[in-house]
Amino acid sequence: MFYDYCESGSWTEQTFRENSSDFDQIRLRQRVAVDMTGRSTASQMIGQDVAMPVALAPVGSTGMNSADGEIKAARAAEAFGVPFTLSTMSVCSVEAVAEATTKPFWFQLYVMRDKDFTRRMIERAKAAGCSALVLTLDLQILGQRHKDLKNGLSVPPKPTLRNLVDLSTKWGWIAGMAKTRNRTFGNIVGHIDEVSDLSSLSIWAAESFDPKLDWEDVKEIAKLWGGPLILKGILDAEDAKMALQVGADAIVVSNHGGRQLDGALSSIRMLPQIMDAVGDKIEVHLDSGIRSGQDVLKALALGAKGTYIGRAFIYGLGAMGQEGVTKALEVIHKELDVSMALCGRRTIDELGRDILLVPEDFEGRWQQN
Ligand code: GLV
Repeated sequence: MFYDYCESGSWTEQTFRENSSDFDQIRLRQRVAVDMTGRSTASQMIGQDVAMPVALAPVGSTGMNSADGEIKAARAAEAFGVPFTLSTMSVCSVEAVAEATTKPFWFQLYVMRDKDFTRRMIERAKAAGCSALVLTLDLQILGQRHKDLKNGLSVPPKPTLRNLVDLSTKWGWIAGMAKTRNRTFGNIVGHIDEVSDLSSLSIWAAESFDPKLDWEDVKEIAKLWGGPLILKGILDAEDAKMALQVGADAIVVSNHGGRQLDGALSSIRMLPQIMDAVGDKIEVHLDSGIRSGQDVLKALALGAKGTYIGRAFIYGLGAMGQEGVTKALEVIHKELDVSMALCGRRTIDELGRDILLVPEDFEGRWQQN
């Protein structure tokens, strides 16, 4: 059921599928007889040094894929030199992750109806030393994912007998879970009076995302936070311009991994027009659909300064814990490095559209009123 939670999109999963298949439409230009020595994937995201511009995206319930999953992923990211983003809906709390790591990580915020909770969450992220706030704007209500309904990953949770039998065969998982105290949503339980157990928590969470969230609220949050701010979930040039106006440091072109508005276009297809609208004024990042170093390369060549992986590291985590996250990062790094070299480029800032072959109608001809 936790694998299904990750490997799913909303409704027909069209957007989820196209996020990846649209990357396949873009091809790379092979160049030869270019000196390939002294290559580097090092670069910066929001002014922070990164070993490659690939951050770990915030993924809810990461600690259900492997015991203490957020701590393992954060440690792997830290050792590799890429940013780790902790979700509000994480299992390990922001304090627990801070205690288990030595470098600052990023914190993703969901805005809740409970203004006091939101304000305290921002304070806790500050106190934990987080070096950027990633504010999610595309999940005031939840897109329906059929697999979660089928598996009883609902509110409150109703695991089916099949799920329970399945879980009982995962001995490594059970042993890990038995050893940790991190088994609920650590940022929330104990910080909200009416939430004491998993069932009351699920009900609280379902009712708690603030459907009112608008640009005025974004401004208020930016002020409360007062540090580097990344707005996640921008998929339209008009919204990108709004993000610019509120003074964000970066935007993430994202459709939430195809988990929210099914039928929306893929992130990579929307990237060129968002770059044209704001690319020279704000740092543009991209998530949704990245599964390989070649996908990273294509997003960077189209102008993104950074990318995020979610599922691509979660599967490593589920399979092999911290080592699996490291392995996923290594795989992506190698693909990025070798593909970049075979395109005749040695550094990230040398990347541009001229290494790509993009279908003439890639952005599509859509009527927009
Ligand atoms: C939460 O972010 C989800 O997509 O389930």
